[in-house]
Amino acid sequence: MKRTTLTRFLIEQQRHENALPAELRLLIETVARACKTVSHSVGKGALGEVLGSLDSENVQGEVQKKLDVIANEVILEANEWGGHLAAMASEEMDTLYPTPNRYPKGEYLMLFDPIDGSSNIDVDLSVGTIFSVLKASDEVAGRDVTEEDFLQDGRKQVAAGYAIYGPQTILVLSVGTGVYEFTLDREVGAWLLTDADMKMPQGKREFAINMSNRRQWSPGITRYIDERVAGAAGPAGEDWNMRWTASMVADVHRILKRGGVFLYPYDDRTPGNGKAKLRLMYEANPMSYLIEQAGGAATDGFIPIQDVAPTALHQRVGVVLGDKAEVARITEYGKAN
Ligand code: AHG
Ligand code: MN
Ligand code: MN
Repeated sequence: MKRTTLTRFLIEQQRHENALPAELRLLIETVARACKTVSHSVGKGALGEVLGSLDSENVQGEVQKKLDVIANEVILEANEWGGHLAAMASEEMDTLYPTPNRYPKGEYLMLFDPIDGSSNIDVDLSVGTIFSVLKASDEVAGRDVTEEDFLQDGRKQVAAGYAIYGPQTILVLSVGTGVYEFTLDREVGAWLLTDADMKMPQGKREFAINMSNRRQWSPGITRYIDERVAGAAGPAGEDWNMRWTASMVADVHRILKRGGVFLYPYDDRTPGNGKAKLRLMYEANPMSYLIEQAGGAATDGFIPIQDVAPTALHQRVGVVLGDKAEVARITEYGKAN
């Protein structure tokens, strides 16, 4: 079967759908190319001396894995010279990374999580890369980019996606005209279209949450999960299944493919630190953009994530996403409690 390459798919989007400016197309191709390199490093494992931790911590106080830093470098180096970006920001850098002066400054801003699910690297479970693209305001052409330039709400995203380094290496992407999936042909090195219109199935009874945090949840979340666990014998009236991979990319990918709901809610474990784990700008926003494009919903438990006004690059936020009716039910339970 002859499949469409990512390059061809994007050129056709640019030509026919008028959805994709040429500069954004080139930026997405560059990110996709960088993800191939990251995939190669991840796949080498112990043979490539890429496993294990470094002595360093990132700005959020998390111990950095070797691959966190390697992937961050790969993505910076691939993107800094192309002329598409004014600046980048990532989980692994304290502040933004402006396009060096020796290269042309582009009109876009990109935020990324170089390796999502780092705790899974050393045990050979799926990890991934998440990215979000925003447009910089026109005035950055004549001045330095600041963190404020990045603090745009999720609705302003012009593209978002993730790569997942699992049994297959997959790229899931949206530029606002639906969600498309590409699978890496490892022999040829090409991303090939394997789903041109991803829609998440609704009405499936599967939830994803780290149950060990139960003592820290709000009453609404506790009620929702306890009802699912009680199954057919409880108020839900049906049995539910549970899965938790501890890589947001893998959990969200599963939900896109076969439905269900993902929760990493606000909790009371880290007062003063946003009381949540996942980061708004490079985890929650891009995933919410993709989930909404695929027919699902994404809130912080109260309001749509893409309407949350960002105040800091590394801001944390509660995340409830997936099945529309279930996300609405969780919001109801939150109001009632
Ligand atoms: P990262 O590896 O980029 O820091 O992200 C890890 C995140 C996310 O991928 C996942 O959903 C969650 O942390 C897992 O958290 P637990 O360790 O609490 O399961
Ligand atoms: Mn992450
Ligand atoms: Mn990460």
